[in-house]
Amino acid sequence: NMKTIYLIGFMGSGKTSVGRRLSDLLHIPFVDTDEAVEKTYGRIADIFEREGEEAFRTYESIILQGIPSEDRVVSTGGGFVEVRKKLEYTYYTAIVAYLQASVQQKLQRLKYDRNRPLWNQDCDTRKHLYNRRQILYEAYADVTINTDSRSIDNIAREIRQFV
Ligand code: S3P
Repeated sequence: NMKTIYLIGFMGSGKTSVGRRLSDLLHIPFVDTDEAVEKTYGRIADIFEREGEEAFRTYESIILQGIPSEDRVVSTGGGFVEVRKKLEYTYYTAIVAYLQASVQQKLQRLKYDRNRPLWNQDCDTRKHLYNRRQILYEAYADVTINTDSRSIDNIAREIRQFV
């Protein structure tokens, strides 16, 4: 058996695409926590609008608690590091890979995105979130992977070496 692998990182860093590929390479199931939240609780944008961020974190946390500690590749939402309970637990039981991308690349990827409430903010708010999160991602990562100008396959293969 393999330890479950969590992919963390800011919005638009490629967690979902890389996670899918990595799960193919390792022949273990893939879980996308945003997708799981939406399946159970409805669209993320709607949850933020109707119930607020706090409610979303609760749902996200419920989904995270349900993930087995072995044999999964998990793409998390950018706010994974805000869900404290899960963090303490994964620290000992999982492999956490941080997908690091430059601000430029993120700006490019998220340019026309309207489905990420925490991105649809003014410049200063985004910058503040980015800086605060960066520290958290680094603190919780077992491995940090720079993703700039690299293919999804190439990134997935690098992560595989740490499993
Ligand atoms: C969030 C990131 C999103 C999603 C939600 C909140 C965040 O996931 O979970 O909009 O707090 O950074 P992605 O990182 O997949 O965009």
